[in-house]
Amino acid sequence: MIDYRAGDDLDLDEVIDVYVDSTLGKRRPVDDRARMDGMLRCANLVVTAWDADRLIGLARSVSDFHYATYLSDLAVRLSYQKRGIGIELIRRTQQAAPQATIILLAAPAAVEYYPRIGFTQHQSAWILRPGEALR
Ligand SMILES: CC(C)(COP(=O)(O)OP(=O)(O)OC[C@H]1O[C@@H](n2cnc3c(N)ncnc32)[C@H](O)[C@@H]1OP(=O)(O)O)[C@@H](O)C(=O)NCCC(=O)NCCS
Repeated sequence: MIDYRAGDDLDLDEVIDVYVDSTLGKRRPVDDRARMDGMLRCANLVVTAWDADRLIGLARSVSDFHYATYLSDLAVRLSYQKRGIGIELIRRTQQAAPQATIILLAAPAAVEYYPRIGFTQHQSAWILRPGEALR
């Protein structure tokens, strides 16, 4: 029985452990605790999945709750994957801001995942990485 909760009052080490255990840690700054702490505290829509008192998954987003929700990180511990937890985390993220479009960048391991569960690929997405200059 998996429980779902909202809110970012979480133990940072446990959160980092979920990133590592899901494999998403390879693509996030898990060795930089201050940055991970900022990512967690400054997100304003965090949905978590729990097996009793063990954190097993999370969806971390930044939302204006009226137009756009940026789903930055979705991670489920490897041993809990493919049981519908990821989709439920996204469902609850969507329910928290029903008027908002969910926007995300798929990690390589998840490029097949999002179309499978109902996302549409957007051909006009653009990013400016940290430190890249505008011209
Ligand atoms: C991507 C991830 C969050 C999916 O979570 P999950 O709980 O395993 O996914 P679900 O159980 O909700 O999967 C729903 C469906 O998608 C399928 N699926 C799961 N992961 C998939 C993947 N990586 N690629 C393609 N399909 C996938 C499931 O088999 C399931 O299909 P079914 O209903 O036909 O059985 C999880 O695999 C994960 O943490 N991956 C590593 C981190 C990562 O890449 N995160 C995404 C960052 S953008």
